[in-house]
Amino acid sequence: MDDKLRDLQDRYAKVTAGGGPKRIAAQHEKGKMTARERIESLLDPGSFTELDTFVEHRALGMAGQEVPGEGVVTGYGTIDGRPVYLFAQDFTVVGGSLGEMHAAKICKAMDMAVKAGCPFIGINDSGGARIQEGVDALCGYGDIFYRNTLASGVIPQISVIMGPCAGGAVYSPALTDFTIMVDKTANMFITGPQVIKAVTGEDVSSEALGGAAVHSTTSGCASLMYADEASTFAGIRKLLSYLPLNYKDKAPRMENRDPANRLCPEIVQIIPDSPKKPYDIRHIIQSIFDNGDYFEIQPFYATNIVTCFAHLDGHSVGIIANQPQAMAGVLDINASDKASRFIRFCDSFNIPIVTFTDTSGYLPGTSQEHGGIIRHGAKLLYAYSEATVPKLTIIVRKAYGGAYIAMCSRHLGADQVFAYPCAEIAVMGPEGAANIIYKKEIDEAADPGAMRMEKIEEYKTKFGNPYIAAARGYIDDVIDPSMSRYRLASALYMFKDKSDEHPKKKHGNMPV
Ligand code: HXC
Repeated sequence: MDDKLRDLQDRYAKVTAGGGPKRIAAQHEKGKMTARERIESLLDPGSFTELDTFVEHRALGMAGQEVPGEGVVTGYGTIDGRPVYLFAQDFTVVGGSLGEMHAAKICKAMDMAVKAGCPFIGINDSGGARIQEGVDALCGYGDIFYRNTLASGVIPQISVIMGPCAGGAVYSPALTDFTIMVDKTANMFITGPQVIKAVTGEDVSSEALGGAAVHSTTSGCASLMYADEASTFAGIRKLLSYLPLNYKDKAPRMENRDPANRLCPEIVQIIPDSPKKPYDIRHIIQSIFDNGDYFEIQPFYATNIVTCFAHLDGHSVGIIANQPQAMAGVLDINASDKASRFIRFCDSFNIPIVTFTDTSGYLPGTSQEHGGIIRHGAKLLYAYSEATVPKLTIIVRKAYGGAYIAMCSRHLGADQVFAYPCAEIAVMGPEGAANIIYKKEIDEAADPGAMRMEKIEEYKTKFGNPYIAAARGYIDDVIDPSMSRYRLASALYMFKDKSDEHPKKKHGNMPV
């Protein structure tokens, strides 16, 4: 038995040595941890159980070549005491490239995560499909994409990019709920700089093409970006703290010492007197939610809308808020995409949605119209209407036109809609509206400029307030902003066991 135990230890040591000291040193020189170091850093100490340690490739083109662990470490462990399954590709072993058995290890761990009802985390650091394995490697990707899709809405899926993620490999992260990239060391692209140069003649670096900064600000493919690996793992742990383990579960309730009935008198100071003046909607979020804490998703993309998680009396909520300090909080294609995806995530995983409205509506112009704002904007209507979790809305200031409807109005199924006294709920802003409905009076006036101003004021008084909507019951109450926390928390409590069923169907056909 001793011999056998020694043999086991030797085999285990060989696998865990990965690509060997030279390649590990090269990995460290790039500011990157090894796959096993990453798992150790992410999980609770000592909680990791490895699966499939001794899996080997069976590629004829690589006969005799040793590939420790098949270039990927898979298994399960805990984060803050809650179970997760995960894989980490080992770049020190054949560049973390994905062959048939490498993919099989990932697929097995994913199947277990779904059966066990646990979040799945994929740490990507790979040269893509293992070239020597040809179509077997491609099949491996297909098997992963299929599972990503079937697991969508069943368990939270998080992709972490900590090195290259090239070619078809990018589509697994794209199918998961969150993609988190490390600045400078991570990149994602479907065709790399060399191919681009050969095909189009364009010169571009990997970083400029698909670095974390590009995907966090421009493409919207990254949900979050961190400066280094350690802060990335801290971010994942924080993200998971807002999430349930699966779609049947509820997010854990945090211990909360911030009284649910705490007043928020500062909100009145945050909202400027002039409706044209910008302010940072995140200050209102900080004022209302537990301990002023919130966790923003896609903070650098489509900054005209804020999507974040927070806690309200210890309960997880997802927040969608127009951001008046970026493009006046207008709804455009990117904002619609960002918010819709976030709403659908929250709804999939039983996280109540709180919406803050302050926008003059959808962005006008040919670039938006030709870019498909109609179908992109429709996603927002679809996502809100489809969501059956508790939906609470506060109309802070402007709610004009389509934006009044789109930002989780009662008509899209909001459970409670509150408005501040400064809310302006109307078909359009006073300037545009006065030009249309008082055109004749303005044109015929001795002083058209003065008449226009007079009519704008008249419109504001008549229509630019929350009381017409309140009179019709479209909003439930006009509230003192300082009561926001209490009113939201009590509404959340009243709807905590909400049940809302839509007509039976296979699945809807969301505009894409
Ligand atoms: C086999 C690979 C590999 C791959 C890297 N390696 N990528 N082996 N298949 N796809 C190996 C290298 O040969 C090398 O082995 C080791 O990994 C480290 O790679 P280096 O090139 O030395 O590292 P580095 O200079 O850091 O460059 C990393 C890299 C580069 C940028 C990822 O290796 C690269 O461009 N790889 C190819 C990327 C690619 O185009 N992949 C295919 C995408 S197509 P040694 O033994 O020398 O250490 C695809 C289709 C999927 O994925 C479709 C699904 C639908």
